[in-house]
Amino acid sequence: MSKKTLIIGAGGVASVVVHKCCQNHGVFPDICIASRTKSKCDAFKEKLDGGKTKISTAKVDADNVNEIVALIKDYKPDLVMNIALPYQDLTIMDACLATGVDYLDTANYEPKDTAKFEYKWQWEYRDRFEKAGIMALLGCGFDPGVTGVYSAHAQKHHFDEIDTIDILDCNGGDHGYPFATNFNPEINIREVSAKGSYWEKGRWVHTEPMEIKREYDFDGVGKKDMYLLHHEEIESLALNIKGVKRIRFFMTFGQSYLTHLKCLVNVGMTSIEPIDFKGHKIIPLEFLTAVLPDPASLGPRTKGKTNIGCIFTGRKNGKPVNYHVYNICDHQECYKEVGSQAISYTTGVPAMIGGMMMLTGKWKKPGVYNVEEFDPDPFMDALNKWGLPWQDTFEPVLVD
Ligand SMILES: NC(=O)c1ccc[n+]([C@@H]2O[C@H](COP(=O)([O-])OP(=O)(O)OC[C@H]3O[C@@H](n4cnc5c(N)ncnc54)[C@H](OP(=O)(O)O)[C@@H]3O)[C@@H](O)[C@H]2O)c1
Repeated sequence: MSKKTLIIGAGGVASVVVHKCCQNHGVFPDICIASRTKSKCDAFKEKLDGGKTKISTAKVDADNVNEIVALIKDYKPDLVMNIALPYQDLTIMDACLATGVDYLDTANYEPKDTAKFEYKWQWEYRDRFEKAGIMALLGCGFDPGVTGVYSAHAQKHHFDEIDTIDILDCNGGDHGYPFATNFNPEINIREVSAKGSYWEKGRWVHTEPMEIKREYDFDGVGKKDMYLLHHEEIESLALNIKGVKRIRFFMTFGQSYLTHLKCLVNVGMTSIEPIDFKGHKIIPLEFLTAVLPDPASLGPRTKGKTNIGCIFTGRKNGKPVNYHVYNICDHQECYKEVGSQAISYTTGVPAMIGGMMMLTGKWKKPGVYNVEEFDPDPFMDALNKWGLPWQDTFEPVLVD
């Protein structure tokens, strides 16, 4: 039966999802792109129409459950892919519950007025999704997403016990701006200016923002400074990779980015507390987002590569094992293929693959799940086929 997919959002990541769904038209023969600004959806349609995937567009405010429900009832999709912002996760999940349709996203819910992201709000939907006989796949981008699939792959094929996981996210790309973010500025700045944390021996260890710094020599990129951040997949991996003793997440940042960020934090521009400005209530971070370059516009300017992956330590058959699995992605190659930089690409491709896993029934069970709870093999194969090939080594340099 011909499957229909509703894609909500029309930003940098959605652009890649739409391109990749059109390439994979056998699984995505019919898509509807819906977002707050319909002209952005129409621009995608104009660019990609004429291929084998039938494309329609719609306007939707995804903060409004009734509007999403009406759109779902009208279009009748088999799957809703939330590629808007984390603020919309719960409203879109509510609409999926009301209409009995499967759900996928790439980032866990964040309340708009608290810079805090955790899975508890979405995990609370487990029973309701299970009873309704529908599935939600959470966090199916690269990190979270592929990092969870890598973890399930390591667990299934290379370890009896995993002791430690270090997730390393390196962006060696240069867009030429002194300061810009590679995905939604508001979400990005909330993430990196928050306190850090990691999971050790069954509890969270908290750090000051950017307190823990390491240098790492990344294959394909070279030496970069990376900083420990809190990241959402730590929470789900701590639950799903049984016996794991420590999970950390590191991301690379250049000096220019950090200097600008520090200054913006110090002057209050990253605050999410509303202020009064000439009689208007404005939120400084929202204003900052409006003046920063749109991540979707960085594609033509960004040169260099990303290297994102996981280093595992543990044992197999009583012997110690170290294992590093990662992907190297080239910004300019991504731009040539789909008109986007690698951060959008490395998020959009796994989202398409997650949708494919659900629509083809390879990953399908009622309830709310994280990616590492499914068989990683078909996903790992699809990564090689659809643009994010992985490589691995049993002799990685470990992070101290
Ligand atoms: N897991 C990962 O590896 C990973 C990595 C990077 C990003 N992400 C996630 O990917 C998602 C998309 O990021 P992005 O960089 O593509 O962001 P973006 O360029 O800012 O695009 C967001 C899109 O969502 C739309 N939107 C926002 N609020 C909406 C609402 N209430 N109703 C309908 N549409 C709405 C926006 O509409 P307008 O065009 O009208 O503003 C825009 O088209 C985010 O959730 C981000 O956290 C995940």
